[in-house]
Amino acid sequence: MLKNKTIILGVSSSISAYKAADLASALVKEHADVHVIMTRNATNIINPITFETLTGNKCLTDTFDRNFQFEVAHVELAKKADLAIIAPATANVLAKLAHGIADDMLTTTMLACTCPKLAAPAMNTRMYENPVTQDNLKLLEKYGYRLIEPASGHLACGDTGKGKLPDTAVLKEHVIREIAMKKDLAGRKVLVTAGPTQEAIDPVRYITNHSSGKMGYAVARIAMLRGAEVTLVTGPASLDPPMFVKTVPVVSAQDMFEAVTAVSGEQDIIIKAAAVADYRPATVSDEKVKKGDDELFLELERTQDILQYLGDHKKEGQLLCGFAMETSDLERRARAKLEKKNLDMIAANNVKVAGAGFGTDTNVVTLITRDDPIQLQLMSKEAVAEKILDELVKRL
Ligand code: PMT
Repeated sequence: MLKNKTIILGVSSSISAYKAADLASALVKEHADVHVIMTRNATNIINPITFETLTGNKCLTDTFDRNFQFEVAHVELAKKADLAIIAPATANVLAKLAHGIADDMLTTTMLACTCPKLAAPAMNTRMYENPVTQDNLKLLEKYGYRLIEPASGHLACGDTGKGKLPDTAVLKEHVIREIAMKKDLAGRKVLVTAGPTQEAIDPVRYITNHSSGKMGYAVARIAMLRGAEVTLVTGPASLDPPMFVKTVPVVSAQDMFEAVTAVSGEQDIIIKAAAVADYRPATVSDEKVKKGDDELFLELERTQDILQYLGDHKKEGQLLCGFAMETSDLERRARAKLEKKNLDMIAANNVKVAGAGFGTDTNVVTLITRDDPIQLQLMSKEAVAEKILDELVKRL
C-alpha cells in the first residue's frame, strides 16, 4: 500500500520507543522507504542499529554528522518525504515543534517538512493532561499536524491512564489513510452493507449464510482510504471493524433494512455486499417451529428486499451497486437484477469458481453496468473493491 512512498519516522525518548521498531518494520513491509530520525535521548532507549537493520537506511541522530550522503540532510529528507510521523512523540519534542524550536536533527527536519505530519504523543498521563502539553497539541493541530490519540492502560511508570503509544496496526493505518490512495471520494458519503444476517427461529436457533463480511469490509476500508465518509452496516461477522469508518452492527434482515434506510437518503454511493436472507421464520404463530414425531416444520415469509427498496427510492445523482451470487448464466441473471432493482452496477460472483465468493480473501467478479461488462481476474477483495469504486467514481 505504501510503494514508492518515502516516510520519515521520528523517534523521541518515551520508553515506548522500542515499539517504533515494530512500526518501522510494518511500514517497510508495506514497501515504504523508511528513514528514521531519533533524538539523542531516544538512542539511550533503543539502538539506531535496530532501525538501520529494519529499514536499510542510515538512522539520523546528529545534524552535523559528516558521514552522510546529503549536504544538508534535514532539508533533503524533508523535501523528498511523502509523510512524517513522530511515534512516540514526547512532551518535550511536541513543545519544541509547537514553538518552532529546531535544535536537533528531528526538529530541524520537521520544521522543513511540507508533507503531511502525524504525531503520536506518548507520556505519563499527568504530563499529557498538563494544560501546557494540551495547549502545545492545539498549536500543533493549528500548524497542520494530525494527532494520534494516545491509548489508555497501564503505563511504564506504574500509573494507569491515557498516554500509551497505540498499537502498530493503529499507527500504520493512520499512515496508510494519509497517503496510500488518491482522495477521489473526498466530500462523498458512502454506505456499505456487509456480512450475513441471522433470522431467529427461536431464542436458540437461527437461519444464516456463509458470508464472512470480508468483501463489504474491504469496500468500506478502500472507500475510507479514498477520502469518503463511510458508514458500514454489518451483520454478525468476526472481523475487526475498519478504522475511521462508522460501523453499525445489526443482526436480522429487518435490522439491516432499518439501519440502511435511516441514512440511505444522504448517501452519494450505496454498495450492498451483504448476503441478506431472502426468507425468515414467519411470525404468524407463536410457535414458529412445529414439531411432529420425526419432523420439524418451519413456516417462512419473505424479508423486505433492501436493494429493491433502495433502487425504488434512489435519489437524484445517487449511485447504487449490488452484488449477485450465481452458479450459472451469470451475466444474464445479473443484468436482469440490475434492471429490476434500478442499480447502476452489479458485481456478479460465480460461486463455482475457485477463490471466489464467501469466506475467501479473494474474489472473481464481473462488473455489470449499462456499458460493456468488465471481467476481473482473481484478485484480493481489496483490489476488487478498488475496481468497483473506480467504476463508480467515473459515474459520479
Ligand atoms: O462476505 P464474504 O464472505 O466476503 O462474501 C460476500 C460475497 C463475496 C459473496 C459478496 O460479494 C456477495 O456476493 N454478496 C451478496 C450475496 C447475495 O446475497 O447474492 P444473491 O444473488 O443471493 O442476492 C443478492 C440479492 O439480495 C439482491 O438481488 C437483493 O435484491 C437481495 N436481497 C435479498 C433479500 C433482502 N432482504 N434484501 C436484499 O437486498
